[in-house]
Amino acid sequence: ALVSEIKGLDDMETVLKRELGYQKIIVVPGDSDKDPNVKRELGNVAALYLSSVIRSQDVIALTGGSTIKEMVTSFPKMDFRDNLIVPARGSLGKILDIQSNNVVAALAEKVNAGYKLLNVPDNLSSESLEVLLKEREIKEVVDLIRKAQIVVLGIGRADKMAKRRGLSEDEISELIVDGAVGEAFGAYFGKSGRVIRKINSVGVSLDDFSKVRHLIAVTGGSSKAEAIEAVRLKNDNAVLITDEGAARKIVSIL
Ligand code: G3H
Repeated sequence: ALVSEIKGLDDMETVLKRELGYQKIIVVPGDSDKDPNVKRELGNVAALYLSSVIRSQDVIALTGGSTIKEMVTSFPKMDFRDNLIVPARGSLGKILDIQSNNVVAALAEKVNAGYKLLNVPDNLSSESLEVLLKEREIKEVVDLIRKAQIVVLGIGRADKMAKRRGLSEDEISELIVDGAVGEAFGAYFGKSGRVIRKINSVGVSLDDFSKVRHLIAVTGGSSKAEAIEAVRLKNDNAVLITDEGAARKIVSIL
C-alpha cells in the first residue's frame, strides 16, 4: 500500500520520515552496494549537512564505520577552531582507519578543530567500565560525548556489526534467532524498532542522545534496508541521510 504513494525521491522521503520517525530524510540517488560513487556521494551530502548545522562551541561526536569515514573524506576545507570533536564510542574490530578515534582525528585535522581520543575498547564488561570511568582522562571524554550538541552515527546490519564487534559465532546466531537485524550505537534492533540487546559502549547509549540538537544517521545500500528500518533513534531532531537503494527497499518492507 505504501509503495503506491511513491513516485519520486520526494515521496519516498515523506513516507520514510513518517514511518521511521525522522525529522528530516535526505535520499541520495543510486545504491551504494552497487556503486562506490554513491557511497562517496552519501558521504559528501552528509558532510555538507553537518557543516551547515555546526555552530560555534558545539561538541560533535562521531561513531566510526566506513560510511562516516566517507563523510570525513569528502569534508570541505572549513575552519571550526571553536569546536571540539570526540569519538562517540571506543574501539572495535580490526580495521584501523574506520575506528571512531581515527575518523575524529582526520576530521579535526581537516577543519582545524580540537579533538579528544578515547583509548578504550567499546565492548567492556560493566565491571571494567566502572573501573575505567574512574580514570579522569576517560571520564572527561565520556562526559563530553554525553554533552555533545551534534552526534553523527552509522547504522549497520546486526550480523555484520556483531561480527565486527567480536561476538562469537554462537552469540551472533543467538542474536539473529532473537530477530536482530539492525545495529546502531551498540544497540541491536529487530523489525520496527524492537530493542533486542544493548552493549555497554563506554557507558553511553542511544538514550543519552534523545535530546541532542542534531542526531544524524548516515547509512546506505540496499543490503542495509532491514537494518535501517529496524533502528529507531527516538530523538525528535533525528535526520537520516541514506541512498535510493536502501530507501526503495525499506518502503517495500514497511
Ligand atoms: O558504526 C558502524 C555502522 O554501524 C556501520 O558501519 O558504515 O562501515 O557499514 P559501516
